[in-house]
Amino acid sequence: MAFKSLLREPLKTFKPYVAGKPIEEVRREHGLTGRIAKLASNENPLGVSPLAREAMHRAVDQVGLYADDHAYYYRRKIAQRHGMDIENVFAAAGSVEILELAGIAFLNEGDEVVTSAGTFAIYYLVPRKAGATLHMVPMIDGGYRYDIDGIIRAVNDKTKIIFLANPTNPTGTWFTGAEFDRLMAAVPEDVLVVYDAAYTGFYDEQDMPDPLRHLREGRRVMLSRTFSKAQGLAGIRAGYGVGPADIVAGLMSCRFPFNINLVAQEGAMAAMDDDDFVRRSREHNDRELAFLLAGLAGLPVTIPPSRTNFILIDTKKDATWLFTELQKTGIIVRPMGGNGFPGAIRVSPGLREDNERFLAEFRRLMELDAGWR
Ligand SMILES: Cc1ncc(COP(=O)(O)O)c(C=O)c1O
Repeated sequence: MAFKSLLREPLKTFKPYVAGKPIEEVRREHGLTGRIAKLASNENPLGVSPLAREAMHRAVDQVGLYADDHAYYYRRKIAQRHGMDIENVFAAAGSVEILELAGIAFLNEGDEVVTSAGTFAIYYLVPRKAGATLHMVPMIDGGYRYDIDGIIRAVNDKTKIIFLANPTNPTGTWFTGAEFDRLMAAVPEDVLVVYDAAYTGFYDEQDMPDPLRHLREGRRVMLSRTFSKAQGLAGIRAGYGVGPADIVAGLMSCRFPFNINLVAQEGAMAAMDDDDFVRRSREHNDRELAFLLAGLAGLPVTIPPSRTNFILIDTKKDATWLFTELQKTGIIVRPMGGNGFPGAIRVSPGLREDNERFLAEFRRLMELDAGWR
């Protein structure tokens, strides 16, 4: 007799998140010995915030003890930064934890979640895991930008959560304050709007929506932020949410104890003071994005405008071959078929030498007649 599957029904057909490959795996797979350029995961090519590094070294001596389960100092510092109360801050082991917990805390089977097509994959996985219904609203402006009015139209009385990334991954595009205000005016007050600003630090905030204004006006908005990008702490898993106290309490009730570890709390608190590192990260990103764009000019590709630390390069052909060939030369990018862009790769600028290598290889491959174009 076959073993009965123990999986919950929604998980029987569920396809989990596929992360970018680590450097060592690519090295092993292709027998590579030289430098690997990892341009695949929107990481910070300048490494780690130096203030965070020092704080984390100091914190290592403490790890015989459990962390502060309520992350008091971490949450208090974030609350002060945003002029909110500590009850409004959720301390997350990477900002994806907020998304996961929102699903666990708030979604019943049959509830509905609205988001855009072509956006961050976790927004699709959370409702699918919960057995909730997912509405993915097609993108506009060439198929690379959120259709905020379409998202408004997709909301109904079963909608519990709207997931928005601004700017969004993998296209890098953004929606404006006017669009966000329109959405907030149109959606019912009991819907939770998750506003994921993972790429904060790479753009001027005054040009973007102000989700906390809506929170202060009593709306169910949760701002999600991460230390993985501009602060260079992806490997330590630290992020946070700022939202209504009842929503934060809901997330708290279903997290693991000590969810954000002691070293991560100390590193992230120090990184919050490291304005110099964030400024240098942005300057590097601006310069290297411009370098990549100049190097790609004239090629038959579409690249939507980006306010992030990556660009989507859409060849409108099958990009899997391109991805594999680049990998053989020690350059890791991210194929975007799984996100609805089968012709596209996503590239995060690395150090100049890596970007030069990428451009040279990309141009060479684009010129090859290998049957993929
Ligand atoms: C839109 C968006 N949100 C969240 C994350 C993940 O952030 P974290 O490392 O804090 O889990 C990413 C990472 O790529 C992202 O693109």
